[in-house]
Parts: sequence; C-alpha cells; structure tokens
Amino acid sequence: MEKFYLTTAIDYVNGAPHIGHAYEKILTDIIARHYRQRCDDVYFLTGTDEHGIKIQKTAAAQGITPKELCDENAQKFKNAWNALDIDYNKFIRTTDDYHEKIVQKIFDKLLKQGDIYKHSYEGLYCSGCECFLNAKDLTEDGLCPDHLKKPEVVKEENYFFKLTKYKDAIIKHIKEHPGFIVPEFRANEVINQLEDIQDISVSRAKSNVQWGIDVLGDEEQSIYVWIDALSNYITALGYDNENPSEMMNKYWPADVQVIGKDILKFHSIYWPAFLMALDLPLPKHIFAHGWITIDESKMSKSLGNVISPTSVLESFNLEHPDAFRYYMATSAPCGRDGNYSDDDFKEKVNAHLANSMGNLLNRTLSMLVKYFDGEVKAEFKCENPLAKKALGTVQIVKNHFDNFEIAEAGQEIISLVDAANKYVQDNAPWTLAKEEKMTECGQVLVNVLDIMCIIASLIYPYCPNIASDMAKQLSFDLTTKLDELTADNIKVGKLISKEDIKPVFLRVDSELADKSAKK
Ligand code: ME8
Ligand code: MG
Repeated sequence: MEKFYLTTAIDYVNGAPHIGHAYEKILTDIIARHYRQRCDDVYFLTGTDEHGIKIQKTAAAQGITPKELCDENAQKFKNAWNALDIDYNKFIRTTDDYHEKIVQKIFDKLLKQGDIYKHSYEGLYCSGCECFLNAKDLTEDGLCPDHLKKPEVVKEENYFFKLTKYKDAIIKHIKEHPGFIVPEFRANEVINQLEDIQDISVSRAKSNVQWGIDVLGDEEQSIYVWIDALSNYITALGYDNENPSEMMNKYWPADVQVIGKDILKFHSIYWPAFLMALDLPLPKHIFAHGWITIDESKMSKSLGNVISPTSVLESFNLEHPDAFRYYMATSAPCGRDGNYSDDDFKEKVNAHLANSMGNLLNRTLSMLVKYFDGEVKAEFKCENPLAKKALGTVQIVKNHFDNFEIAEAGQEIISLVDAANKYVQDNAPWTLAKEEKMTECGQVLVNVLDIMCIIASLIYPYCPNIASDMAKQLSFDLTTKLDELTADNIKVGKLISKEDIKPVFLRVDSELADKSAKK
C-alpha cells in the first residue's frame, strides 16, 4: 500500500462542535493513525462547511455577518480537534479563496457540458438538511423527519443537475463494489433511494440565499451548498479541471470518506454523480457511522443536552483526551448508533484503561524492580506462551480496520490485555519469587512486558498519549510498523528504575470530577 487518503464530513459552523462531530473526527483520526502504522503516506483532510441559508440565518439572528460567524466558529472546531489530538494534515474551510474559485469552475464546466440546465421549480426546502424534500418523506404533520421543522415552500428558477443521467451507472457501481458503502447493510437503502431519484436543484436565487458562491456569469444565482461542500474533498488536493494537480494524482481517489448516516445520500448518490460528470474515479469506501445520543436521547439545542467534547475533558479533569477518544471510538459497533453517559464513561475507562491495561503494566514493572532491580537478564527471554495470541491479535485488528470496525478492533485489544492479566494471575510471579524460582519469575514478567509492547502499539491510534507513556517505560519504539511487530521487544539489561515507573492512566475519580464540575 503506497498512500491512504481519508476525509471527514465538513461541519456546519452555525454552532460550536458537539460530541457527535467529535465522534466522527476521533474515528477518522484513529483510522489515520492505524494506517500510518501500516504505510508511509497517509493524508487526512477535515474542515468546515460555511455557506448556505442556515449559516446566513444564524448570523442574522446574532446580529453579525456570516463571515464573522464562520470565523468565530471555525476556530472553535479547530480548538476542539486540537484538544482531542486530531492529527489532520489539512483543514479546509469552504470560504477559502482557492476552494470558491474551483467550485465556480466546476459548476461552469458542468453547465457547459450540459449536465446542468435551468428550470423553474417549486419545492419544499429544509434549511436543517440544506436540501429539498419530497412530500412523501415528511412526517404526518408535514415536518422534516430529521429536524422536525416545517420545510419552506420555495418557488424559484434554479439550475438543475441531471442526476437521472447517472442513476444506472451508480446502481451498477454499488452492486459491483460491495465494499463501496460501509457498512454493507446500508447499500440497499441507497439503492431504494436511487430508484425514484429526480434531477436536483443545484443553485438558489440570490434574492433568497446571499451567503453562497456565485454562479459564474449569473449574478442572480448562488451555487447549492452541497456542490460547494462535496467538492472540498478534491479542491483540498488542488483539483482544477483545467490544470493537473500533483496532489490529485497522488491521493485521489480517496481510500475512505467518513460521514454520518444522515448524509449518506449526498455521499453515495450526489457525490458519485458529480465525480462521474467530472470524469473522476469514485472513492473506494464511503463509511457511514451511526448517531451518538446522550443518555439515550437525541442531542438537540431545544432539549438543552448538547455536550461539547472539551467540556468532557474539563469536567473529568483529564490531562489528555485518550480516555474520551477510547470511549467514543468503542461506543458502537461499525455503523450503529452509540450513546454517551457520564457514568458509563467513568466505568468503562476505569475498567479498561486504568484497571486492566494500566495496572498490568504498573504491577509488572514494579515486580521487575522489586525482584531484579529493574534488570532483564538473558535467561528471562524464553518461548512466550502469549506470543501467538498477541501476533494473532495484530492480524485481527488489521482485518477489522480494513472493514472500518473500530470498536470491534478495540475489543480485541482489550481481550489481549485480559489474556495477559490472566497469564500473570495463573503464573503468580510473586509466588515464584517467594519460592525463589527467580528465573521462572523473571520469565513470566518479561513475557508480559514483551506483549505490553504490542498492546502499546495497538492501542496507540485510540490512546496516543497513554501508548507513548507505556512505550517510554518499556523502551519500545512506537514507530515500529505493525507488520514488523514481533513478540521479542524487551532488551536484555537494565530496563527501568523505581522512580521512572508511573501509572499511565489514573482512574477517573468521580469525587474529583464532581467537584470540578461544580466549580
Ligand atoms: O452535515 N452523532 O454538517 P453537520 C454522530 N456540512 N454524528 C453526528 C451527530 C451525532 N449526534 N451530529 C452530527 C453536515 N454528526 C454537512 C456535511 S460534507 C461534504 C458536508 C455528523 O455539521 C454528521 O453525520 O450537520 C456529519 O457527518 C458531521 O457530523 C457534520 O454534520
Ligand atoms: Mg447535520
């Protein structure tokens, strides 16, 4: 594998980031970090979606310009991703100059080649979705099923994109590429939607929507937000329909595009059609993750239960985002909905990260210091009964990542931790020491430490800070590629002194957290 290009959805900046946005960026960052452990050239794109009627209305309500709103909120997204250690290569904003220019050129090209035409139209527009809805898709009360708001009746002369022209080709592509839509159970949904697809409006009258990219040569119309937004995945690579771009050649098509299930239609129908019209290859995978709820209910401003990711870090006094990353990433099987609750968060990260994983390392290193002054003797290196399970886990984890099963891979890692804990329990090195079977005692400890290096490597994408602390205490090189991992990692000689042993993860202390939340 030479390169890996992955993208997230770009978030609307009409508000601050919440943990649903964070969930997606964490999943994508974990995939990016995993693939950096497998190949040399990973490119990870994220950003913000800044045009459209929704932003225009929010800004107006706050008495500021749309651009001011965008600047303020785009910065909040960047700050949040920084706090969560989202290690992206590029952050695109759809108000970036280069992006706007290319979107105009893309629109112009599609117009000139006959894929876009002008048409008078009356439809029901939901500003929450930023799209026209079919009457049959509304609730009994005539509301948008996703936003529970009444769509606006819009009567305009718009530009239309000939989506129907690409319908058969898209159906064929989905059927011939079973991995195109991940998870696969969503592919049928998309095929059903394709059956009664219509041409789509791809511009809005400037009299109604001012905050958008102008259609070249038509001052009355602004380009539909979804053409603008979807194009980010290629404009970020310097796409230009008239000039080749080195980055495009190198990275396109995307290896995976991570999005939420609510915007699958745009990514598996509209986006492929635009790409086909531009004569570009389709992304290899569209991965639609599920929805994050709070205490089992939908997160919404009206319910007042929107949680910001940084508030979780603050209220639990976390010095790094690893626990939150781990919790979110393992909150739901691939493509299914997940839930956040404070109690569940505490319980899970205490059990997995502090008690199982952190304690195992701490206990084992402490025994090495207590019995051997932290020194690994040559005779401690031996056939390791945990090696097969550990190296098998590396393979299983890789296979899960190939299917974007991030939670499932996490479970395998914890099951390796459990196996190592059981091995310590079964072999009781403290008893061996009491019986003065010192070589056997040392062998048990070093077997565990060798496996801890593999665990550090596997947990790294989820918990980069914890993994790095583990690796430091094990003198293990965390940049080792997954395919080069062996079960022989601990070197003979002095490994560690008492004062260098530190717990890698402290239990989330409920009292402490409660106190700081009340502050
Ligand atoms: O849809 N749980 O922006 P957005 C999980 N700008 N994921 C969630 C979520 C939740 N509760 N809430 C939102 C848009 N998301 C467009 C995308 S891409 C060219 C344009 C996810 O701010 C959502 O599914 O409404 C989407 O993938 C992303 O956050 C941005 O949502
Ligand atoms: Mg949304």
